[in-house]
Amino acid sequence: MLGNFSYVNATKLYFGDDSLKFLNDELPKYGKNIQLIYGGGSVKKNGLYDAVVEILKANGKNIVEDAGVMPNPTVEKLREGVKIARENKVDLLLAMGGGSCCDYAKAVSVAVHCDEDAWEKYFIRFEEPACEIVPVACILTMAGTGSEMNAGSVITNPETKQKIGHVFGENVMPKFSILNPKFTMSLPKRQMVAGCYDIFNHICEQYFSGEDDNTSDYIAEGLMRSVVHSSLIAVENPEDYEARSNIMWTATWALNTLIGKGKTQDWMVHMLGQAVGGYTNATHGMTLAAVSLPYYKFIMPYGLKKFKRFAVEDWKVSPENKSDEEIANAGLAAMENWMRKIGVAMNITELGATAEMIEGIADATFILKGGYKVLTRAEVVQILKESL
Ligand code: NZQ
Ligand code: ZN
Repeated sequence: MLGNFSYVNATKLYFGDDSLKFLNDELPKYGKNIQLIYGGGSVKKNGLYDAVVEILKANGKNIVEDAGVMPNPTVEKLREGVKIARENKVDLLLAMGGGSCCDYAKAVSVAVHCDEDAWEKYFIRFEEPACEIVPVACILTMAGTGSEMNAGSVITNPETKQKIGHVFGENVMPKFSILNPKFTMSLPKRQMVAGCYDIFNHICEQYFSGEDDNTSDYIAEGLMRSVVHSSLIAVENPEDYEARSNIMWTATWALNTLIGKGKTQDWMVHMLGQAVGGYTNATHGMTLAAVSLPYYKFIMPYGLKKFKRFAVEDWKVSPENKSDEEIANAGLAAMENWMRKIGVAMNITELGATAEMIEGIADATFILKGGYKVLTRAEVVQILKESL
């Protein structure tokens, strides 16, 4: 049975290979000072930076540069971004990049007019903003996180090795996002497949919970099939527009809250992956891939019915002459086969984690209660050891 819920999605999307021109429609709605947020320079290499600057200038905007947002944005960078925003009285935070730039823009947006320390308030105490929020917009260059249409923001504190996400309310969601699949084509293959696994796992996190027959799970199955299908095409031919556009659109729907509505959710792969990320600074999607199989094999007996359905519906495993366990195992084997084909990380050792880190990573893992088995700390340690 679907539980009760309310649903709104406050982000306006412009999708397609001509979508950048709609920036001209949106800019007049905001004041003059635009904080232009981007990462380590990919947008300068692929021409997006120049194209956006031209549009901003044509619309008479002051450009306030905020470059160097790193993958897994840090508290220190957040404080720098807040300083830039305050000094320049910015009216819009325009992020160009992947989840890191978009998440960072959201964290800056709730911190600019906040008197308290943003890390402590939002990421340690998980409080909601009580101040004015600077509007955020996103021009997406990497498909994966869904940050372009959600209120999530993940910030890392390298000093304490904490990587923590806060899902804010709808007032923190980007006001608009521009999604042009062509902007993702300059992504290195490793980043592209990390994004594909991130998408797939966002769907799994919402799917592997509860036993009920509900619409959300049917949508989830369709989205999983789409990303698996398109990722295999894009790995062979990164320039395939159809595959890249399907991946981009699936990423958005995988985590814009729709498929989690009315049901419980798991999110333990993300908790484990995030804790690994806090210790290794590894690419987000790879941290998820590296812990997934040990985790899913561990919880499978507790959610056997769903794992069986996953095998039959998503991986087309034939149930004939097989026990439920055999069907479910065949589904996970098919998933593993796909992961190896696209080339994601299969263990945390290759991401820089060591046996000595396991206790610390386990301490940094938030244990959530929505999955098929609420893990004990000892089980977290066991899963992490199996992920090495
Ligand atoms: O910095 P640049 O030079 O732009 O390079 C980036 C970066 O090195 C590069 N890149 C992005 N688009 C490119 C490109 N290179 C060439 N061509 C392009 N078109 O890719 C690298 C990774 O970018 P990043 O933004 O870090 O990747 P992703 O989109 O995976 O974002 C990861 C962050 O999002 C958080 C993660 O924890 C991590 O901090 N997440 C946010 C979520 C949310 N808001 O709901 C949920 C996710 O589960 C996730 O936790
Ligand atoms: Zn993710």
